[in-house]
Amino acid sequence: MATVAVQTTVAPAIARLRAMPKFNPDQHLVGALPAKKMTMQELGFEEDVGVSPVAVSDPFQLFTAEAVKFMRGEVFRVPEKYKFSSNIAKSQLRGYAKDCAPFTWDAWNHPATIALMSKIAEVELVPAMPYEIAHINLSAKSKEDAQQELAQYQEQNRRYQEDEGIGGCREVVETPIVGWHTDSYPFVCVLMMSDVGDMVGGETAIRTADGKILKMRGPSQGCAVLMQGRYITHQAMRALGAQERITSVTSFRPKSALFKDDTELRTVRGVSDLNELYYDFAEYRLKLLQEQIQHERERVAAARRTGEGFATTAHKQFLKRVIAFSNQSSHELVEQSEVQQGYIERVDWPDAAIDL
Ligand SMILES: [Fe+2]
Repeated sequence: MATVAVQTTVAPAIARLRAMPKFNPDQHLVGALPAKKMTMQELGFEEDVGVSPVAVSDPFQLFTAEAVKFMRGEVFRVPEKYKFSSNIAKSQLRGYAKDCAPFTWDAWNHPATIALMSKIAEVELVPAMPYEIAHINLSAKSKEDAQQELAQYQEQNRRYQEDEGIGGCREVVETPIVGWHTDSYPFVCVLMMSDVGDMVGGETAIRTADGKILKMRGPSQGCAVLMQGRYITHQAMRALGAQERITSVTSFRPKSALFKDDTELRTVRGVSDLNELYYDFAEYRLKLLQEQIQHERERVAAARRTGEGFATTAHKQFLKRVIAFSNQSSHELVEQSEVQQGYIERVDWPDAAIDL
């Protein structure tokens, strides 16, 4: 009797476990490099802006269709407590991957994926922190609404064509999904998880250093864009005609403690489990601090061994950097009681006309 009872309870669990896909880079990572990348210099930025010469990549095929299917499956099973909404984004999933999306978690943390990101970014990267693995932006419309907005756009476009030469300027000010902003973390990888084949728009608009606007092609399903989002002011333009639009955003930072870390939590505090976010942030910032101190300690010891005079100015400069780094950590960790959940402070960039 006992054997039968064990079999009936354990067997379905084993079957479920077997059915759970496991991330395998040979099978799920496409690993294509983007055809083109735009450099910070091409956008007019000074050399010391950012952590890499790369500003933004063209869309590249990152994961296979099967991998995206598994990730979508995990997205649709995310429990309520990981769902957030705010004044600037209606529906987001955050911090769920570590707890309940093993395929997604493994996909972004796999050394092969991280090596690919680093190769494209031209700097060795690691995921910014566990909480930021596969942040999801969701938007869904009814079929009728999606068709209607597309029809409206086509009608406007037809009128413009008829009007050409009389009406003059074709510039249209579009309402973006999220207005002009910079991201919290040095690099962001935006993966498109929806079929956006019929969609009009959905590009990423970026601002050059002198305020000009460039429109970058948005990624199609399974494709991603890597961007130095902390330093480049950008916005996702509205997408028309797509019933569903799911993007997955994973943030990265340089692995080495010798790079600057300008991470700011302003854009994520109000849509996060603060406990998780702050533990992740405090841990990696302390790790970077430890590595900086270790590096300086070794430098000082080596200088002594070789009989050099003590470099007071250099060491004082290091101490100043450490103080600034600690102050920055402290500045980002706003007391929980002062954080307004569901509210993201907007940086007011004036809207600019974008030529469609
Ligand atoms: Fe962004």
